[in-house]
Amino acid sequence: MTDTPAPLPLVRTVADLRAAVREWRRQGLSVGFVPTMGALHEGHLTLIAEAVRQADKVVASVFVNPTQFAAHEDLGTYPRREARDAELLAEADCALLYAPAVAEMYPDGFVTAVTVGDAQTGGPSQGLEGAFRPAMFGGVALVVSKLLNQVQADVAVFGEKDWQQLMVIRRLVVDLDIPTRILGVETSRDGHGLALSSRNAYLSSAELAIARRLNGILAAAASRAASGHPVADVEQDATSEILKAGFDRVDYVAIRHSDDLAPFIGNLDAPARILVAAWLGKTRLIDNLAVQNLAVQ
Ligand code: PAJ
Repeated sequence: MTDTPAPLPLVRTVADLRAAVREWRRQGLSVGFVPTMGALHEGHLTLIAEAVRQADKVVASVFVNPTQFAAHEDLGTYPRREARDAELLAEADCALLYAPAVAEMYPDGFVTAVTVGDAQTGGPSQGLEGAFRPAMFGGVALVVSKLLNQVQADVAVFGEKDWQQLMVIRRLVVDLDIPTRILGVETSRDGHGLALSSRNAYLSSAELAIARRLNGILAAAASRAASGHPVADVEQDATSEILKAGFDRVDYVAIRHSDDLAPFIGNLDAPARILVAAWLGKTRLIDNLAVQNLAVQ
């Protein structure tokens, strides 16, 4: 018989969050942090597990951040399951759930923006997701800056599933001297290789079968690129494969430098990543993998 974990303490204000963290600090405990938008799945829980390994006390946030959704995107329908999320977090040994209201994060009078690079300066927010979802990284950078400042954790854990987001956050904490260590955790997948995502809930069973082919196509493309096929050909062939598998549209398949996501000119002479975004009906899926380009291992 397993013990039912005690209900997870929940705070909704910065003041209450800070009081809880202050008490842990007084006791000499280290603090880990996992920001999320909720509708938690096994992927999120691997981040919690890593944070639990890294720190004495772990805070998870659940906040569906309006500033990272464009007007036509799924802010209104994004799944919200706070009670279930709280249960899963308690089972995963999370110590505190921080679930602020929109007005707590963005009170009247809020005007500050955070920009991690632009067309002039370049940087990891440019291109790929930044091209197809221009509002997103500004919103992510803003909310993650606020959350990191609010929690002041020793370590914050993010998923490689959102590789470009992880690179934007790594740049942001360096540039703004935020003293929280950023840790990336490998993507959790279902038994068919499909990256777990809260948005997978939107897929019909026919779409799910198609979605499950994405990772295999990406892996095959990554190994072709690693064995020296020209990047542009690999990107184009993978795009055709994805459409042939039944996806409706491909926003991009791109092989880029892993850290700043700059394009390759010529050979893969530095650590590389292959990244994809593709549509199935109304659902947009993203995924990415390391390209094991042996020349730089
Ligand atoms: P969300 O999509 O809820 O994801 C929260 C964290 O879980 C992110 O770091 C994401 O990369 C990670 N994650 C999602 N699916 C994963 C999977 N299959 N395997 C491993 N990690 C996975 O990303 C966001 O929220 C937001 O942009 C946020 C950073 C919270 C800012 O609002």
